Amino acid sequence: MPKKSINDIDVANQTVIMRVDFNVPLENGQITDDRRIEMALPSIKSVIDRGGKLILISHLGRPKGQVKAEFSLQPIATRLAELTGTPVAFAADTVGEEAKKQVQELQPGGILVLENLRFHPGEKAGDTDFAASLASMADIYCNNAFGTCHRKDASMVALPQAMGDQPKVVGSLVETEIKFLKEVIETPERPFVAVLGGAKVSDKITVIENLLNICDQILIGGAMAFTFVMARGGKVGQSLVEKDKLDLARSLMDQGQGKLLLPVDAHCGDGFSEDCQKQICSVDEIPENMLGLDIGPETASRFGDVLSTAKTVLWNGPMGVFEMPPFDRGTRAVAEAIASSQATSIIGGGDSAAAITQMGFEDRVTHVSTGGGASLAMLEGQSFAAFEILDDA
Ligand code: 3PG
Repeated sequence: MPKKSINDIDVANQTVIMRVDFNVPLENGQITDDRRIEMALPSIKSVIDRGGKLILISHLGRPKGQVKAEFSLQPIATRLAELTGTPVAFAADTVGEEAKKQVQELQPGGILVLENLRFHPGEKAGDTDFAASLASMADIYCNNAFGTCHRKDASMVALPQAMGDQPKVVGSLVETEIKFLKEVIETPERPFVAVLGGAKVSDKITVIENLLNICDQILIGGAMAFTFVMARGGKVGQSLVEKDKLDLARSLMDQGQGKLLLPVDAHCGDGFSEDCQKQICSVDEIPENMLGLDIGPETASRFGDVLSTAKTVLWNGPMGVFEMPPFDRGTRAVAEAIASSQATSIIGGGDSAAAITQMGFEDRVTHVSTGGGASLAMLEGQSFAAFEILDDA
């Protein structure tokens, strides 16, 4: 059921409390990737441009209910002021005196960022008193935090609950994510091809099971391919294998009935390092002293052929150790094939989003998710309490 959007309601002179996911990577206090902030901007601007008073709330990292300077949202508030070209006030607490005072001083068109929600133990505990204190500050609740939608933290579920009959709406970042990660995937243009990678089959079991019911083809790369290869009797040398998942891999291959396409070759090394001895091997005949660190060129070319005919593509998980050249070649080849295809292309968050951005293809795909765990949970077919609780359109 579609949800009521922040754009559908009058916000003039109203105080809107918007949950965003500003959990962005920081190095020495500098934001290294501000995509989550950028993607939240349309709804932020929509509120302030229409004369709303905007309170932004988020978590950053996992400070476990303690105040820790390295997890302060202050640098994010500063970045937001640059991006919006508007002054952004900052309160050094969430439900304390300072926050309350600053909320009272907030003017139409103004923005206030509260300090990290997870400095308060009530956030992770889903505490109703904490949620009620946040709710008392605002007239409207807006969920614009897709990356956290799989969580039941107080600001995601107890807070909209505490708003009672007041509007609880969705922001455009969440709307866009749901459109691509749920609606497009449930009714895809065919052929629909998924590319799954990453280290472990165990992380992706439910995703594979769900996608086997929907996709026409699933291309498997990354270290998890070696569990499948060993399960069908291949020799994988020292490659990473989850031995307790071999039966499961066999049963997924049976279930898939030819839908699962495994690598035919692998780019191997005699150790996990850039200066290791390298060799391209048949994926079923990896020498005893070597391990697969990427898909090989023949696999990359076969995957590219399948992707070139797809009408919908979903990618989640790198094909190899893309942070360690030359084992980035498989991931790069897949990224390039997806960018060159005419398909609607959806890139799951986390490592695949980092890879597509790092390789410079971000502008040539249809959608790059801001969610890591949340996009995976959505691809597993989960529904989110944080989304369900919002007002229907
Ligand atoms: C994420 O980065 O995946 C989200 O911000 C959620 O963070 P969490 O896993 O710490 O809840």
